[in-house]
Amino acid sequence: MDQVLQVSILKELMQQLDDGKNVDAGVQYKNPTTSYVCPKMATKEFNLFFQNHAQLIGLSGDLPEPRSFLTTDDFGTPILATRDKDGNFCAFLNACRHRGVRVESRVRGKANLFSCPFHSWSYSPAGELVAIPNEDHFGSIDKTCHGLVALPAVECDGFLWVHPQPDGELNIAELLGPLAGELASFRLENLVHAGGTTITKNLNWKLANDTFGETYHFQKLHKNTLGQVFYGNNLHFKEFGRHHRFVTASKGIDKLRDRPEEDWDITLGTFVLYYLFPNIQLVVNHGSCTLVKIYPDKENPGRSTTQIETYFTQEIIDAAKAAETDDSIAKVTPENVYDKDVRNNAVQTLAASLEVFSSTIEQEDYLMGEYQQKSAENGLLKEVLFGRNEPALHHFHNSFRQALGLEAMEKVG
Ligand code: FES
Ligand SMILES: [Fe+2]
Repeated sequence: MDQVLQVSILKELMQQLDDGKNVDAGVQYKNPTTSYVCPKMATKEFNLFFQNHAQLIGLSGDLPEPRSFLTTDDFGTPILATRDKDGNFCAFLNACRHRGVRVESRVRGKANLFSCPFHSWSYSPAGELVAIPNEDHFGSIDKTCHGLVALPAVECDGFLWVHPQPDGELNIAELLGPLAGELASFRLENLVHAGGTTITKNLNWKLANDTFGETYHFQKLHKNTLGQVFYGNNLHFKEFGRHHRFVTASKGIDKLRDRPEEDWDITLGTFVLYYLFPNIQLVVNHGSCTLVKIYPDKENPGRSTTQIETYFTQEIIDAAKAAETDDSIAKVTPENVYDKDVRNNAVQTLAASLEVFSSTIEQEDYLMGEYQQKSAENGLLKEVLFGRNEPALHHFHNSFRQALGLEAMEKVG
């Protein structure tokens, strides 16, 4: 991110903290609770946003070398993503051309060949059908026409994009618009996958996204966890078409005040989050990031799955591993992470970093989401309210409503 922009966002957040103010959208909205339960709406969303829309399946670090692979079955099309022998990113339907069995069941790894478990037809990482056992018994077929079904796949600035339809269009420059350059500045292509977790809960996928949409709750719901690290009740917010940037101050912002502006690094004083339409929440840092992918359950609007993956530079991973085995260095662990003295004087382990983020989401945010889902399903609560201090929620809901051809939410008053 451009240094001038970093300074201007940090200054605005400092001003909000000094004035005791938060961002003000100047408008409040009513969101109908049917949005979280309506089966027709859920089907439309799934078809439009997950079956016929570019999907960010991971970062370059998920496929670290030639012949690495990654599978996903989160959005209705089983995907086998690979790097071929030359390192090119490819994506295929994870379905054997004999009788449709999944050719790879592991989530990630490295393979020279993908051999179908049913009758052992084998495919190369470039998707070519290379072997049919007992081919003389089976009868001859043209192998060159029976490779895995290829899907549009683009690797760009560290992002792995796939389109679930073989004839789908992947225009990433158009998709990201003016955000592309800013995202590229974080050099996500240099990061290595360090770990991940999956959370499946009884809440609509949009309720899961809503937990990333305001800082109003930080000092209430998270007062003993994230609230120890972040101020809450402050936000710098900017829309980029259907995407947005969301920046809130951490307590580290105070340390920047005494330093020259040219040294200010936004990630040392804030939490920088990008929402990428329709289902991505991306927290970026220099040297690390957390990718949150949120998926609806196709059969049940009241259920969703969140995949959380963390990435670091190799240098950070090496330093953290070295520190983990050095007994003379104090460690930040999931148990002591919110102890201020420990946090300031110790090395954060990689496990602590993932565990803290994911367990806060699961045990605090999504617990609220499950209560909200129950209210919505009950049907007696017709609408919920989004305040002037919650512009990311306005933007998220109005963006997907517009994409579904629905009217914007109704304003309050
Ligand atoms: S279904 Fe794959 S080899 Fe038969
Ligand atoms: Fe939260």
